[in-house]
Amino acid sequence: MGGQLIDGKALAEELREAFKPRTAALAAKGHRPGLAVILAGEDPASQVYVRNKVNACEAAGIFSLEARYSADVPQETLLAKIAALNADPAIHGILVQLPLPRHMDEKTVLEAISPEKDVDGFHAASLGALVQGHPCFIPCTPHGVMKMLEAHGIDPSGKEAVIIGRSSIVGKPMAALLLNANATVTVCHSKTLDLPAHARRADILVAALGKPRFVTASMVKPGAVVIDVGINRLPPEEGGKLCGDVDFESVREVASLITPVPGGVGPMTITMLLANTIEAAERRAGK
Ligand code: GUN
Repeated sequence: MGGQLIDGKALAEELREAFKPRTAALAAKGHRPGLAVILAGEDPASQVYVRNKVNACEAAGIFSLEARYSADVPQETLLAKIAALNADPAIHGILVQLPLPRHMDEKTVLEAISPEKDVDGFHAASLGALVQGHPCFIPCTPHGVMKMLEAHGIDPSGKEAVIIGRSSIVGKPMAALLLNANATVTVCHSKTLDLPAHARRADILVAALGKPRFVTASMVKPGAVVIDVGINRLPPEEGGKLCGDVDFESVREVASLITPVPGGVGPMTITMLLANTIEAAERRAGK
């Protein structure tokens, strides 16, 4: 037996179908959503993510512009590009792929993006609005997780939600979203004492720490919903495949619902990026 799969790929396709009337309505008014993707450096995983984002835009009828730079690009060059994109009416969303090269200050670069075009939701103004429950662009991965829960009829209200990982990209916004949905939220991290004891209390367990197969069956309450945000490449001696932060085979036996890797959260992240870009274009067109 084992828990039921949450099929992120199928849900992503369903949501992307629903974008078509929205992009058609924009096109009828002479607008086409546009996304700019900035990549600095040659990180192989980032290159794959950026390619996937650009391809997904093309398939959804969204104009995309890729700005690539070598790892030693001065921060000022990136800031000047962002300023130009902020002023460009054909661009509705701007995304700076992370991680940035070490000599750059991530906060300075992200905060140069106009909040109106912050489709990744990483600007302090976006995260502040999210925490306060105001309308904003929601970071794509945690937003995708909420859509998956919703699609499976999981209402977080009153449930124990435990998030492993406190990144600004996933853990922190995930905590805000689950809290806004009335869950009782615990965020675990590298300094947490007895992390398995926290994890075992979870009705909804989100693993977003970036360690392959960290969550094992003994850390999961029977019947829990397990969301695996991890995308880790195993070393060649272990097959070189992608694997999540959850030990899928063993945890599946305990969980009621579980996301696979690949085919779980990953396709939802890109889908929510498309959703945010379309929404940015709609807001602009409505002005
Ligand atoms: N690096 C890892 N995940 C992401 C993401 O969702 N957006 C951006 N911009 N960079 C990332």
